[in-house]
Amino acid sequence: MERLFTKLCMLIVVALALQMHGNKGCLEKERIALLAIKPFIINATFSYDERNRTVESWVVDRVSNCCNWYQVECNTTTGRVMNLSLSGLLYDSTAILNFSLFQPLEQLQILDLSQNYFEGWVDNRAHHLKQLKILNLSYNRFNSSILPYLTSITSLTTLILSGNNFQDFNPTQGGGLGNLRNLEYLDMSFLVLDS
Ligand SMILES: *[C@@H]1O[C@H](CO)[C@@H](O)[C@H](O)[C@H]1NC(C)=O
Ligand SMILES: *[C@@H]1O[C@H](CO)[C@@H](O)[C@H](O)[C@H]1NC(C)=O
Ligand SMILES: *[C@@H]1O[C@H](CO)[C@@H](O)[C@H](O)[C@H]1NC(C)=O
Ligand SMILES: *[C@@H]1O[C@H](CO)[C@@H](O)[C@H](O)[C@H]1NC(C)=O
Ligand SMILES: *[C@@H]1O[C@H](CO)[C@@H](O)[C@H](O)[C@H]1NC(C)=O
Ligand SMILES: *[C@@H]1O[C@H](CO)[C@@H](O)[C@H](O)[C@H]1NC(C)=O
Ligand SMILES: *[C@@H]1O[C@H](CO)[C@@H](O)[C@H](O)[C@H]1NC(C)=O
Repeated sequence: MERLFTKLCMLIVVALALQMHGNKGCLEKERIALLAIKPFIINATFSYDERNRTVESWVVDRVSNCCNWYQVECNTTTGRVMNLSLSGLLYDSTAILNFSLFQPLEQLQILDLSQNYFEGWVDNRAHHLKQLKILNLSYNRFNSSILPYLTSITSLTTLILSGNNFQDFNPTQGGGLGNLRNLEYLDMSFLVLDS
């Protein structure tokens, strides 16, 4: 009886150690958030090679450390996702970008969603990407209706919007870009996408 109890205790210790190891450097809610983004990558058609590397690396295995996943970088001190690089990967058949998917990644500083053919966007919680500094949305199909959302992310220092459908953008009105008081670099080149 006593030996069984000792064995049981050892089992629990091992299980706890495994769980702690599994979550080290990767917050559970961020792992779940990334896995919610994964179905969009699976539907990607832009680069099968890149897509396959992501799909193989972003595994549903609980002991997998999401900080080591392909195109994911964490802050080494906090273990929070800091840089997400999904260029040419996130193609969804509806081509609507759901910003809320990134909401749990509270310390995200760099987000690259370039070359994904997004044309529309939704967001249930405005102002949630409070630490976002670099946002690359180049080579999508957004029009200037996205500007009011973007200009609410006041932490932005770099905003890349080249190669979108901004022919309706009126530079003299500025589209609220003046709200981005930390902005150091803005790229709005090739604003009329030839499609
Ligand atoms: C990617 O995976 C698909 C199956 O989902 C396969 O048909 C294709 O050959 C793979 N491509 C590369 C470059 O590995
Ligand atoms: C963000 O991550 C991508 C992919 O790992 C990397 O290529 C890029 O250099 C990183 N950006 C910064 C500013 O660290
Ligand atoms: C990582 O997080 C710590 C604590 O919030 C912060 O001081 C540090 O600047 C962050 N590192 C980077 C590279 O952003
Ligand atoms: C992936 O594509 C399939 C088939 O086109 C579609 O039914 C599904 O909704 C898509 N999933 C996502 C997350 O875009
Ligand atoms: C966007 O994502 C959030 C969080 O996953 C979800 O609750 C919401 O229903 C999504 N909205 C749309 C329109 O898909
Ligand atoms: C933005 O994305 C484009 C296309 O993927 C890339 O060429 C460019 O270097 C990126 N710029 C920054 C500042 O990340
Ligand atoms: C701009 O994009 C939004 C979202 O896709 C769309 O509803 C709207 O009709 C577009 N406006 C123009 C002028 O194309």
